[in-house]
Amino acid sequence: MANSTPATDLYLDLVKRVLMRENFERPLREPEARGWKGRAVKLGQHALAPLGAKLVSSRPVGFAGETMLSRARLDNLQACVEQVLLDGVPGDLIETGVWRGGATILMRAVLAAHDISDRTVWLADSFEGFPSEDRREQAIDRQVDFTAGMGDDLFRVDAETVRRNFSRFGLLDDQVQFLVGWFSETLPGAPIDQLAVMRLDGDMYASTRDALEALYPKLSIGGFVIVDDYNFHEPCRRAVDEFRSANSITDVIHPVDDEGVFWRHST
Ligand SMILES: C[S@@+](CC[C@H](N)C(=O)[O-])C[C@H]1O[C@@H](n2cnc3c(N)ncnc32)[C@H](O)[C@@H]1O
Repeated sequence: MANSTPATDLYLDLVKRVLMRENFERPLREPEARGWKGRAVKLGQHALAPLGAKLVSSRPVGFAGETMLSRARLDNLQACVEQVLLDGVPGDLIETGVWRGGATILMRAVLAAHDISDRTVWLADSFEGFPSEDRREQAIDRQVDFTAGMGDDLFRVDAETVRRNFSRFGLLDDQVQFLVGWFSETLPGAPIDQLAVMRLDGDMYASTRDALEALYPKLSIGGFVIVDDYNFHEPCRRAVDEFRSANSITDVIHPVDDEGVFWRHST
């Protein structure tokens, strides 16, 4: 069951705010403010300290949080998980492409908030970033810059770091399971019986196709498929469209925001 109370709503709202570092401001410090600016900042900080106030940078925090998801996509994830709990749709939850683990931390938080102890959150990732060019068997995946100029390093987050992130939220336990490696190698034989929510965030054509082929047959009727990049990366959209067409899936695709979509498995 997923009966929301003001306390569960407040807790999950707080988790989302922290995952996104929403409205968190960075202390303004060197080397942002050098020279005369630096001295002015120092004077300002001294003057404000007795008042318990400090100068902060107006520049956004950027990728400081545990997720790249928008607030709308986090809200959608929470809503899908709560709906399957409410409707008693059986199965575990998975994200393929977890990066720092933010979306999966939210999944685990939703289970915790509703006192659910018989479902597992699965995290599938290479934990070393996107497949390198020479591992990309599809031409379409070699033509797109999936790191969008942010650099490959940003996407290389090892499993230990993700475990630490879960621990910071007090949510690391045996309801959290890691599938470490390339989707094509880990997903087909993954020890998952049934899924209620599958969230795909591997961006690429092959990463999206591999996740759909291995996991969709395990999705319960009434379960949700969420695709983070359907309206952002053409290769991702193509993999989804081809899979739906090959498997005669006609469930309506709903937009979440200008990038993500989801559908509910009806037949
Ligand atoms: C955009 S990030 C995921 C963002 C994350 N869901 C969040 O909450 O911010 C994409 C992730 O997919 C992983 N990935 C992409 N293709 C993969 C593949 N074929 N096998 C394993 N991991 C893959 C990358 O390592 C990266 O962590």
